[in-house]
Amino acid sequence: MDLTEAMKERRSTRAFLEKPVTREVMERLLYLATQAPSAINLQPWELAVVSGEEKKRLSRLLVKRMKERNISCAPGAKKPLPEAFMDRQRGLLNTIQPHLPEDTVFQEFINEGSCNFYGAPTAVIISMDQVFSSARLTDMGVLVGYLVLAAHGLGLSTCPIGLITAFDEEIKEELSLSDEMQVVIGVAIGYGDPDAPINGGRSERVPLQDVVKWRH
Ligand SMILES: Cc1cc2nc3c(=O)[nH]c(=O)nc-3n(C[C@H](O)[C@H](O)[C@H](O)COP(=O)(O)O)c2cc1C
Repeated sequence: MDLTEAMKERRSTRAFLEKPVTREVMERLLYLATQAPSAINLQPWELAVVSGEEKKRLSRLLVKRMKERNISCAPGAKKPLPEAFMDRQRGLLNTIQPHLPEDTVFQEFINEGSCNFYGAPTAVIISMDQVFSSARLTDMGVLVGYLVLAAHGLGLSTCPIGLITAFDEEIKEELSLSDEMQVVIGVAIGYGDPDAPINGGRSERVPLQDVVKWRH
């Protein structure tokens, strides 16, 4: 697939088919994703590929903890969000809400769906050694960008899941990750369900002039 097309087409998926992603396809995907650049070529990431029974166990654990601790997807803001960002947040709600069953509350759908990786057969948990400062989170973001685009190019669908960072300790224990690691993000990976209404909504972007300043 043409890269430009992939960049325009890709969107997050929130309903997946049960069809598993084969080891061969996952290896191809992760090979492509890890071609991402990183500062000093440190490649500070570690990826845990979780599927099958382990993925079900992890999802159950996260949903349980999310309910016990009342964890919710949030913008990660240090102060009240300026109106322009509130608008973008409302934009996402307006993209998703119309495709949910009438009795489904948007925030509950997002919280539970995120902890369940929206039913995707595979979750990739991306972590970083805590030897690194937060400066290296930039590298992790680049990796995620490569991952979701490469997945799209391979006919796979994804949804990045930031919510799971709230469960850093639980995830490390469940997946036997070293205590030195910090869970940075998860990515749900699978084949999108083409018949699921929720996959019909498409988030838009603000016009360039809202985010780009030209200086001459
Ligand atoms: C760092 C990051 C964290 C995210 N965390 C979540 C999440 O926890 N749950 C979720 O449903 N979507 C999550 N998303 C998906 C965003 O909501 C989505 O990318 C955004 O609304 C733009 O839509 P698009 O991906 O369809 O273009 C996350 C995306 C990024 C980049």
